[in-house]
Amino acid sequence: MPVSLSTTASLYDRVRRVIPPIEWPAFTDDIEAIFALKRKRNAVILAHNYQTPEIFHCVADIVGDSLALARKAMAVDADIIVLAGVHFMAETAKLLNPGKTVLIPDLGAGCSLADSITASDVRLMRQRYPGVPVVTYVNTSAAVKAESDICCTSGNALAVVESLGASRVIMLPDEYLAKNIAAQTKIEIIAWKGHCEVHERFTPADIRELREAHPGVTVLAHPECPPEVVAMADFAGSTAAMSDYVGRHRPARVVLMTECSMSDNVAVKHPDVDFVRPCNLCPHMKRITLANIRTALEENRHIVTIDPDIAERASRAVERMLAI
Ligand code: 13P
Ligand code: SF4
Repeated sequence: MPVSLSTTASLYDRVRRVIPPIEWPAFTDDIEAIFALKRKRNAVILAHNYQTPEIFHCVADIVGDSLALARKAMAVDADIIVLAGVHFMAETAKLLNPGKTVLIPDLGAGCSLADSITASDVRLMRQRYPGVPVVTYVNTSAAVKAESDICCTSGNALAVVESLGASRVIMLPDEYLAKNIAAQTKIEIIAWKGHCEVHERFTPADIRELREAHPGVTVLAHPECPPEVVAMADFAGSTAAMSDYVGRHRPARVVLMTECSMSDNVAVKHPDVDFVRPCNLCPHMKRITLANIRTALEENRHIVTIDPDIAERASRAVERMLAI
């Protein structure tokens, strides 16, 4: 049964602050079809905070940062999980709920961090630093997770590093996240040279210019930003932590040093907050659209599969993280 016109009108109410009325009719056909397909196929859509508002606020059943998506994927009861996000997130959902069909609407939705390291790189790091535990960011392939002791996200990295009882820890592959965590702990962190292509572009000069142009603006940064940027921000945290910060502190004016759709998605919930938007687009996140979510459900594609040996070892590292 298609979603009714009154339902699409009420959906538009959610996003009217960030989607102009002239653009909305272009979305309604796909939204109606996706609602019907979710019911027919017993599917749920998990969407990351960087998805566009018509996905995030209108068709997603579960939204959040990588940590929340991993936790909630584990508890999904439906037959099919469509991951509106990037490939490593879909793999993580499959690792944690292997009995479900996990679909990623576009196989090209990758990540510069996941592409920066291979499983054999991790084995070489272990040879170079024998006995030093390996903490791997979830923004990696299942094959890389399988070589790790434990995973982390930007939401729990410090707690994970400190949980190991080691004086030295290898932290892969995000150099900036590793340095930002190193600034908060006495544990020695050995980093890799991976970078997020979205966050590495923010500079201290950007923050100086923003503060000059918008006196009093609150600056929030993702910990994938360079340490000099994080040091100048008022707060640094995962996408969920930034969103919570806005909800808790209600700054009159805020800038989120992160992916563009974040501000749209948070702005929808906080009409009283003024968002300044010098953002950078993630080309991988932006590969996911209403149209390819619809096709994913219609054609059952692209099914995420993981080699059983890799899956067993990788899920151990992810589950160890979730136990913290
Ligand atoms: P979060 O875990 O903070 O949602 O970040 C994921 C990500 O890809 C940031 O670039
Ligand atoms: Fe990867 Fe950066 Fe895109 Fe996040 S924003 S998915 S870390 S490339």
